[in-house]
Parts: sequence; structure tokens; C-alpha cells
Amino acid sequence: MDHANIHGGVMRRLWPSDLPAFREHLLRLDPQSRNDRFAMAVTDEFLINYADRCFGIDDVIYGYFVDGVMRGAGELRGVGLGLNSGSAEAAFSVEQDWRRRGVGTELLGRIVQAARNRGADTLYMSCLARNKAMQGLAKKFEADLQFDADDLTGKLVARTPSATRYWQEWLDDASSFATAMVDLHTRVFSLRNPAQPTPR
Ligand SMILES: CC(C)(COP(=O)(O)OP(=O)(O)OC[C@H]1O[C@@H](n2cnc3c(N)ncnc32)[C@H](O)[C@@H]1OP(=O)(O)O)[C@@H](O)C(=O)NCCC(=O)NCCS
Repeated sequence: MDHANIHGGVMRRLWPSDLPAFREHLLRLDPQSRNDRFAMAVTDEFLINYADRCFGIDDVIYGYFVDGVMRGAGELRGVGLGLNSGSAEAAFSVEQDWRRRGVGTELLGRIVQAARNRGADTLYMSCLARNKAMQGLAKKFEADLQFDADDLTGKLVARTPSATRYWQEWLDDASSFATAMVDLHTRVFSLRNPAQPTPR
């Protein structure tokens, strides 16, 4: 999957240099969205600490950017021993004004592919029973996802990834890394060269 252009935004893999954008995205989530995302009420402090721990070696995060601002994220991390241990955990967040445009679908598609490519055969998603949006989103992947009977945890039994899929994700990662570096360079450059006031 290459960089997707969705409603004027771009989706790509995140790198440690994207931490500030990821943290700001989480902090913009309203109380209800935070509750749905983390299955509990969370404070700003919790989110700041959480974001700091999100770029571990086994973590895969995709972000959706509009005009350079992150408006959505899909996260994948291993349960217990890391992503190659057989099971992984996924989570999604899309800011209110960018919902129902297919962003969640694109994020879930990438996370499912990344989980398969790492040999994860089970994908868990915390999902409150009342979270109709996440359940509706998951239904779009019914061919790939199997749900636990209690409806609280999504469970994916993945097929063996094909060589094409590995190659495609590698290409996507390489190009998103280059984009992240350009974004970082732009931020550093604009910090060092603050815009001069326009002469009257
Ligand atoms: C769940 C969430 C990620 C969906 O993101 P999204 O960008 O709106 O998803 P999409 O636009 O791709 O929608 C995909 C499908 O999900 C279903 N869906 C999305 N929002 C819905 C809602 N409010 N009610 C019912 N179904 C909904 C629909 O079937 C939709 O397809 P459609 O628009 O063709 O009808 C977003 O609502 C969100 O961030 N919620 C708060 C955090 C959260 O609950 N995270 C999940 C737990 S980790």
C-alpha cells in the first residue's frame, strides 16, 4: 500500500520524529473519544506518558495527516513477547471532524497487513460493547476478522502473508520514512528561521 491520498490528507507510517504530532493528535481527542479509544477515562497526563512509550522497536503506527496535522492513527503492538509472538493488539483514533470518510478503514487495512506480515495470527482490539463505530468498521473486514463471543475483543486469524505484501509494506515504510525526515527538516528549519514580519 503506498501513501494514500484520502480527502486531501496523506496516510503513512510514523517514526520517532512523529512523536510530537502523535501526542497532539491524542490530546485533541474529546472525552468520549478518549473513552472509546482507551476503554476508560484518561487525562492529558496519561496521554502524554502513553505517547512517550509508543515508539518501541516492535510498534507499528500509521498516521493520517491533513495539512501536516495528524488527524488519525492506527497502532499495532505485540502482546507479551513482541509482534512475532503470535498475537498483537491494535487501536484506532480518528478526530471527530475527519470521521466517516474512510480514514478508519484505511488505517485498519494497513494494520491488518502489518500484523500478517509479522506473523501475528491473532489481533486484539479493545472495543466497548457500545462502540458501534468500531464494530461497524471491523465488520468491513469480516472476511479477515473473527470476534470473540463476548463482543469486547476483536480477534483476527491471519493468513500467511505473500511476498508481494512484504515488499509493498517495505516500499511504503521506506517512502514514509523519507517523508517523516522531510517533515522534521521543515519543522527544524522553520524553528531556526521564524517567519519575518511582512514590511508595510
Ligand atoms: C472507530 C473510528 C476509528 C472509525 O473511524 P472512521 O474514520 O470514522 O471510520 P470509517 O469512515 O472508515 O468508517 C468505516 C465504517 O465504520 C462504521 N462506522 C463508523 N462510524 C460509525 C458510527 N458512528 N456509527 C455506526 N457505524 C459507524 C460504518 O460502517 C463505516 O462505513 P460507512 O461510512 O461506509 O457506513 C472512529 O470513530 C474513532 O476514532 N472513534 C473513537 C476511538 C475509538 O473508538 N477507537 C476504537 C477502539 S480502539
